[in-house]
Amino acid sequence: MRRTLGLLCAAAMLAAAGCGQTSPDKEPQNIKIGVSIYDQYDTFIGLLTDRFLRLAREKEEALDTTITILQESAAGNQIDQNVQVEDFIQSGCDVICINIVDRTDASVIIDIAEAAGIPVIFFNRELVEEDLERWDKLYYVGAEALQSGRMQGQILIDLCRSGFKQVDRNGDGLLQYVMLEGEAGHQDAIMRTQYSVSTVEAAGYRLERLGDEIANWNRAQADNKMTQFLEAHPNAIEVVFSNNDEMALGTIDALHRAGVQPEDWPVVLGIDGTPAALQALEEGEMAGTVLNNALGQAQSMLDLACAVVVGSPLPDNLENGKYIRLPYETITPANVARYKETS
Ligand code: BGC
Repeated sequence: MRRTLGLLCAAAMLAAAGCGQTSPDKEPQNIKIGVSIYDQYDTFIGLLTDRFLRLAREKEEALDTTITILQESAAGNQIDQNVQVEDFIQSGCDVICINIVDRTDASVIIDIAEAAGIPVIFFNRELVEEDLERWDKLYYVGAEALQSGRMQGQILIDLCRSGFKQVDRNGDGLLQYVMLEGEAGHQDAIMRTQYSVSTVEAAGYRLERLGDEIANWNRAQADNKMTQFLEAHPNAIEVVFSNNDEMALGTIDALHRAGVQPEDWPVVLGIDGTPAALQALEEGEMAGTVLNNALGQAQSMLDLACAVVVGSPLPDNLENGKYIRLPYETITPANVARYKETS
């Protein structure tokens, strides 16, 4: 059964860089953008698409161009997403933004779009490079996964430098940790898992892995896995590396339910900078996170979508004519207030 998020029509005027900038000799254009996300329950993707719609609406003030956005969720099914792309083309979309379900299975979407001559901006879930090279109207907007792993590791290094005994609570010179991984095969899960740990090791700290489980970016699954870790290793977990904030929040749910006291609380680290995680940071339940810039990615996607349709110059931050990667940023209790203002 195909499930859809429904049709969201954001009629917005295009104002920002590249959007609706009409030259005197050019008629204003209406732009129709099809957006399909891999799963309507993903918190980070929800933030990103909310901002995308908001940014499109914010442009309503200016110029005489209208943007219509058709949004669907593939509910985790690649075949459904392929059909959604066909539907977008039938509905007259000028450009399509795809948060692909299976990043190794993009060929059907690419073939359909290329045959119709409709550009595709993939976002957040990165294709293999050869697929993106298959046609010059394929783009990717996201972030450099490796950087987020390194930054997460660096937060732990900084904590160790400022008070190793508070992190190494049992004083054995090793940091006992558990890892909560996102979806298997997702570029962010692979790189974050690897680089968070290797960065800490490269700084000379020794780690001991007590557990490593996949919780699919999901709070409830992470709660469940953390409950099992706590049962297997009571009062022994000193650090929780979580590939995203939702799973970090799930581990906090489990820590509360297990009655873990503040003096035994592990260092909990996430990635994304969601509003709920910023709150957990302020309350001292999370030690740090890394901003996955949803607003910047949404803005870049909108600018790029408009530019490819209108034919105006492509955004300056487009690399190799294909990639826009927004930098990650470190968030700790020291600077969280600044991010709360803008989140
Ligand atoms: C985010 C996760 C999200 C995933 C979805 C990642 O970049 O950090 O929170 O679930 O993308 O693809």
